[in-house]
Amino acid sequence: MSFSAAKRKRNQQLTNLKNRSVLLGVSGGVAAYKAVELVRRLKDKGASVTVMMTGAAQQFITPLSLQIASQNTVYTSLFQEPLTHISIPAAADILVVAPATANSIAKFANGIADDMLSTAFLAFRGPVVIAPSMNGKMYEHPVVQENLKKLLSLGIVQTGPDSGPLACGEEGTGRLAEVRDIVDTVVAALTPKDLIGQKIVVTAGPTREYLDPVRFISNRSSGKMGFSVAKAARNRGAEVVLISGPTALESPQGLTFRRVDTSDQMLSALRDETERGVSALIMAAAVADFRSVRPSKAKVGKNKIPLLTCTEDIVSCIAGGEKRPFIIGFAAETGKKLDRAREKMKRKKMDMIVFNDVTEKGSGFETDTNRVVIMDKKNGVMRTGLMSKDDVADAILDRYLKIKA
Ligand code: PMT
Repeated sequence: MSFSAAKRKRNQQLTNLKNRSVLLGVSGGVAAYKAVELVRRLKDKGASVTVMMTGAAQQFITPLSLQIASQNTVYTSLFQEPLTHISIPAAADILVVAPATANSIAKFANGIADDMLSTAFLAFRGPVVIAPSMNGKMYEHPVVQENLKKLLSLGIVQTGPDSGPLACGEEGTGRLAEVRDIVDTVVAALTPKDLIGQKIVVTAGPTREYLDPVRFISNRSSGKMGFSVAKAARNRGAEVVLISGPTALESPQGLTFRRVDTSDQMLSALRDETERGVSALIMAAAVADFRSVRPSKAKVGKNKIPLLTCTEDIVSCIAGGEKRPFIIGFAAETGKKLDRAREKMKRKKMDMIVFNDVTEKGSGFETDTNRVVIMDKKNGVMRTGLMSKDDVADAILDRYLKIKA
């Protein structure tokens, strides 16, 4: 199968939300206004969105806003169009309820079906994601917790609530999860779980090699590529540890996040993880190649230019260790230097290497997209077009599964 055919197939297989139909239930909380943003972000990922609103939700936001955002009919009453409480859920791939109030959670948990959303909930067969939002004391109430426990035991996925200042003026746990996290949860819920049982460690971002307490050597890595790989592996059911140098990115939910600063710290975090057994290591981090021979404890004067040496090669250290995982490295090259990447794979004893030309527009550092060539020890070569880093991440994991099989 050509790569573009494989990519088309994977898109049909839900790597993102292309061709997916989301039924979004909005119940009556202050956070209902965030449903507009949620609809937009789901549509950005290619989903079609149909919204159902409870009566209380309409006190906070008008159906018109959600109709405009979704470019679809918004359902507000059981009697609006006969039998749509059955036909709309039947056509949906996933039901997302955001915000989910204490009242709607109680109805779902107890089979009460007295409006469009609660009736559609019972009629729907497929993955359900709920994003609770309410006052902190309400959320902590044993009755609400009992209802949630019942829903979770039925396989319903919960995202949030987050902690912080609440609309009522109190502080607590009850804020609607970030829209980004809700979308992430939806993508994860719709992704086939072909990495269950695997522990995958991913490195991301740059490292900092300190010259003195105020200066360091680093590089342009934003962490986006590594974070995409970690999230894709998590979505596909792997147990994921993401070891990241300093980045501006939020730590993703549903995985173990270890923040490091220097290459030494990255190496010791990796040794720690591999000691406990790892199926695959994916080294997307741009480890700084140079460090000071003798980092100074005090700020050095301009006349004392520090002597540099090379950092320890992390990937080679792990490849030479006793509990060696399957190793996928990256090669950041300036120009189409595939031979250099192949040589790196051999020298550093990797099983696969992902080449990217960091001088190419839309590729490499900081961008949301990348174009890569994935090579393996058995001389297999797979080229991707320019695509999102999320899609590149899935292409790498597809290749990994194929080569390991
Ligand atoms: O983070 P982004 O902004 O999204 O950018 C993505 C990226 C360009 C950083 C990523 O796609 C990428 O290419 N990562 C590897 C960068 C790199 O360090 O390449 P390299 O060719 O210098 O190193 C080869 C491999 O050896 C890499 O897997 C690297 O992690 C590893 N290495 C390098 C130096 C070192 N001391 N120890 C290592 O293990």
